[in-house]
Amino acid sequence: MRIAVIAGDGIGKEVTAEAVKVLDAVGSAFGRRFEMEHLPWGADHYLRSHETLPPNGYDLLREFDAIFIGALGDPRVPDNRHARDILLGTRFELDLYVNYRPVKLLDDRLCPLKGRTPKDVNFVVFRENTEGVYVSIGGRFKAGTEDEIAIQEEINTYKGVHRILRHAFEYAKANGLTKVCMADKSNAMTQGHALWQRVFKELTPQFPGIVATHYYIDALAMYMVLDPGQFEVIVTNNLFGDIITDLGATFQGGLGMAASGNIHPGRTSMFEPVHGSAPKFAGKNIANPIGAISSMALLLETQGAKREAAAIDAAVLAAVKENQVTSDIGGKLGTREAGDFIAKRIHD
Ligand code: NAD
Ligand code: IPM
Ligand code: MN
Repeated sequence: MRIAVIAGDGIGKEVTAEAVKVLDAVGSAFGRRFEMEHLPWGADHYLRSHETLPPNGYDLLREFDAIFIGALGDPRVPDNRHARDILLGTRFELDLYVNYRPVKLLDDRLCPLKGRTPKDVNFVVFRENTEGVYVSIGGRFKAGTEDEIAIQEEINTYKGVHRILRHAFEYAKANGLTKVCMADKSNAMTQGHALWQRVFKELTPQFPGIVATHYYIDALAMYMVLDPGQFEVIVTNNLFGDIITDLGATFQGGLGMAASGNIHPGRTSMFEPVHGSAPKFAGKNIANPIGAISSMALLLETQGAKREAAAIDAAVLAAVKENQVTSDIGGKLGTREAGDFIAKRIHD
């Protein structure tokens, strides 16, 4: 399996090193060869070369079986240009329309919601990943004056809405789940989100075993906190999905715990922790590597390496149960030591 690795910026570099360490451990435990190519793209590279990624960058990525990304974002690049090209650019150019973000609590003690246990917090969020407000269509008129007008369009296409909603239903069906909840803001966004309503109603009868529900996104945020156990599959647009998956991450113990995949089924896909580069934590060996390590497990699972992915998940669970983890979730280990524990568990 050939994997492109973009460690990126800040704690992205540190957590990626641990995910790579764990993948090496999986390779030797299961007698498999993972060929990893490290691409230097990130803020340092951009500031040095004025290039965010090379002109053939996306084509290069398409040659790999999968892509792993740490995080991108650096205070020295205030407009976040490199992150836009590398992270969002890859989502768009490789047409990775499914942002798959499982929200799974591993241990009661990690959850900030009163009395909630792993059986209450176990759902997946599918975030549309190629449209919405992220397309950066718009502009500013009379910028910098008191007459400034700023326009940022939200793009919703039938094709884009249909394929993410269908994916959510298909995922539920394939995994023996019976509940799909779609969230939009169709009471205010009466044009774009009417399309979500229409397509959801069109698809629902095609999946007779599945109970399809709808919440407005504001109510969904409230229900996620109040009664997370009611959810199995949530599907929503790009921006709302971004926001509710940081909320979901807190249920799991914080941003350091949450994993994600940017997927186009059957094509080269990209895996990354939900968190960013957390500049104030960078270089201190304190970042939690579990989100990154669990993203590597999602990568393997998507590539059909189910036993290898399960081995990582089991080692992560053991680390949590035995409190061999970083301080954000109550442990005493540094980033490297937390990664060592998980890698060693896989060897044992
Ligand atoms: P962030 O996710 O980097 O950090 C927010 C806070 O979450 C941190 O201060 C820390 O308290 C906690 N946190 C995050 N990751 C953690 C970890 N692994 N272990 C322990 N605690 C962790 O979000 P931000 O501060 O809003 O953004 C920082 C930079 O990262 C920005 O440039 C932003 O654009 C970028 N960003 C990139 C990605 C990505 O590459 N996918 C995602 C989100 C943000
Ligand atoms: C994420 C991040 C990105 C997003 C940022 C860095 C543009 O927050 O992957 O969740 O909004 O998609
Ligand atoms: Mn985000």
